[in-house]
Amino acid sequence: MVKFAPSILAADFWRLGEQVKAAEEAGANRFHIDVMDGRFVPNLSLGIPIVEAMRRGTSLPLEMHLMIQEPERYVEAFIQAGADTVIVHQEATPHLHRTIQLIKHHAKKAGVGLNPSTPVGTIEDILADIDLLLIMTVNPGFGGQRFIHSMLPKIQRAHHLLQQCNAHCELEVDGGVDLQTAPLAVNAGADVLVAGTAIFADTDGPKAGLLRLMQAI
Ligand code: DX5
Ligand code: ZN
Repeated sequence: MVKFAPSILAADFWRLGEQVKAAEEAGANRFHIDVMDGRFVPNLSLGIPIVEAMRRGTSLPLEMHLMIQEPERYVEAFIQAGADTVIVHQEATPHLHRTIQLIKHHAKKAGVGLNPSTPVGTIEDILADIDLLLIMTVNPGFGGQRFIHSMLPKIQRAHHLLQQCNAHCELEVDGGVDLQTAPLAVNAGADVLVAGTAIFADTDGPKAGLLRLMQAI
């Protein structure tokens, strides 16, 4: 069963609680929270107060997508705020294995994100240690970008590698997931789809947006 992680980056923050409930009603499995520092990516986004508010408002798991340099500096703060999964980027931390151990030390799920230009082979030796592999299908930093189709073979490669060495690790795809690209990502081996614009910018609201996405795959 493919899982869906709505990215609240595309939500209407004036009505966040209402929109989160609508995504829950449609069957969201967890929420994806994008954290940007203006350094690792050229944009600023969400932080700890939003995570705390989400923690009060939903019982679904919260996954943090940390698009920040040296994410190890903030891992514990996000866990304290209510994160269930912490995803750090391979490109952002010099000691990735240590950062993964830090997350697991707190009994939380550890994820690693890869930019489009970063080969899956760069994390082959630590694949057995992680709970989630996030393949970026856009360059991180902004919602509403177009899916990079040349990432499909990379998703396939990641899927095969995980089958060989860590079948429990989830393969998640993030960026430009919509009615057209969701089935492509799933056919390539994705277990979890992150979607922001396709859900929260749907003219009929997030519930309809997520239901349409579910029907598309
Ligand atoms: C991009 C973020 C994504 C983004 C996805 O840097 O990591 O999670 O919110 O948004 P859409 O679905 O609009 O591409
Ligand atoms: Zn993200």
